[in-house]
Amino acid sequence: MDDKELEGWFAANKALLETAYIAGKQPWQQSGVGLRTPRDNDYWETLRRPVADCITKDGSFLDIGCANGYLLECVLRWTSERGLLINPFGLDFSEKLIDLARARLPQYTEQLFLGNAWNWLPPRQFDVVHALLEYVPEELQEAFVQRLLERYVQPTGCLLVAEYSGRHTDMPEKRIDGRIKQWGLPVEMVRSSYFEPEPTCQTHVAVIRKTA
Ligand SMILES: C[S@@+](CC[C@H](N)C(=O)[O-])C[C@H]1O[C@@H](n2cnc3c(N)ncnc32)[C@H](O)[C@@H]1O
Repeated sequence: MDDKELEGWFAANKALLETAYIAGKQPWQQSGVGLRTPRDNDYWETLRRPVADCITKDGSFLDIGCANGYLLECVLRWTSERGLLINPFGLDFSEKLIDLARARLPQYTEQLFLGNAWNWLPPRQFDVVHALLEYVPEELQEAFVQRLLERYVQPTGCLLVAEYSGRHTDMPEKRIDGRIKQWGLPVEMVRSSYFEPEPTCQTHVAVIRKTA
């Protein structure tokens, strides 16, 4: 893919996601869940808690692709239940979605950034960074993970790479941790969950520790 094609890929993906998410009425819909099949907060919580469960210490947390900020808000709540103090940050390439996130988390406006995770340079590094591989074309996913580790994650911090499969998405041939290991990167742990009434709706979060 040359630069022009890549630019077109990002523009098409952004238009598709932004249009669908903005049309959502529920906070989880504005984060991409339950757009085609109505879902409730239990569904969202079952399939997003594993992200928060990977956070085991106080520190900074960046959600790449934060959409309307609902995951950040939930991660703050779910980690505070375990007595953790998290400083939340978000990044999204959609101005409209970042505006929603800023409205949802007004006290963190300065920590909600607009940018494309593929080429945006963060102003600092973070203890924990969360991202999905689908933010870049498949042939760039390995380089994307390397870039996030180098530029976004603090030395000894970790990168959480999540994979969500649902009713309307295919089950991947190889689970996320298997793909990461194939790239020669160590996976420290995997947190998973599935939605009992529809066991193909699953979340797997692979934790990659950055070595200093
Ligand atoms: C599935 S939602 C993720 C919401 C939430 N972080 C979660 O995990 O549930 C994907 C979000 O990523 C954003 N996104 C997709 N590709 C991106 C990229 N290359 N850079 C920044 N944001 C991106 C979209 O605009 C969308 O808001």
